[in-house]
Amino acid sequence: MIVVETASRAAILISGSGTNLQAFIDRQREGRLAFEIAVVCSNRADAYGLVRAERAGIPNCTRAHGEFADRESFDRSVAAALEPYAPDLLILAGFMRILSPWFVRRYEGRILNIHPALLPLYPGLHTHRRVLEAGDSHHGSTVHFVTEELDGGPPVLAGRIAVEPADTPESLNDRVQAVEHRIYPEAADWLATGRLRLSEGAATLDGEPLDAPIVRDF
Ligand code: GRF
Repeated sequence: MIVVETASRAAILISGSGTNLQAFIDRQREGRLAFEIAVVCSNRADAYGLVRAERAGIPNCTRAHGEFADRESFDRSVAAALEPYAPDLLILAGFMRILSPWFVRRYEGRILNIHPALLPLYPGLHTHRRVLEAGDSHHGSTVHFVTEELDGGPPVLAGRIAVEPADTPESLNDRVQAVEHRIYPEAADWLATGRLRLSEGAATLDGEPLDAPIVRDF
């Protein structure tokens, strides 16, 4: 018998409004998520995503990064807070902290992030503005594995939209987020069910190397 290891419990880390978290919650409610959202953790006590978690009856916690001497001690405190929930999968959903090498290694191959750009284009901040300034025809968002390089882990699944002449950073933000709510649960399901793996720094889907992310047009 072949035993496929599958992740079944996720921790979702947030810092803000949590619309991506809400997309996961909605899919879980509809029975369309391959894992359980075991815990939500924020680095800000006023993150609206905590209200969303509370309303959905999901355990949640706050670890305020300002109360820790350095990045790693904050990360160790987050890991300790998650420990009782035994997550197999970590989903960064608007979590605005750079993770320490210690944390990334601890959960290697089990952390996903979503970045609002077509990676490897535009790592970092202000992606919508930069896309408009560059006059790009397309924009989007990318789910990627988290490695020690910021926004630099292997990209897995991208959602792409056409930039319209009338677009502003705000309109792009709204349209890109709507795409995120579709692609992020899909990619997380792949990881949870063992279809997606990180092996020797490279992503594979169904055993095939992902040299570039899968791209969906919206
Ligand atoms: C998303 O747009 C994501 O790309 C970025 O942070 C934003 C989080 O939004 N990493 P929300 O908190 O899920 O609404």
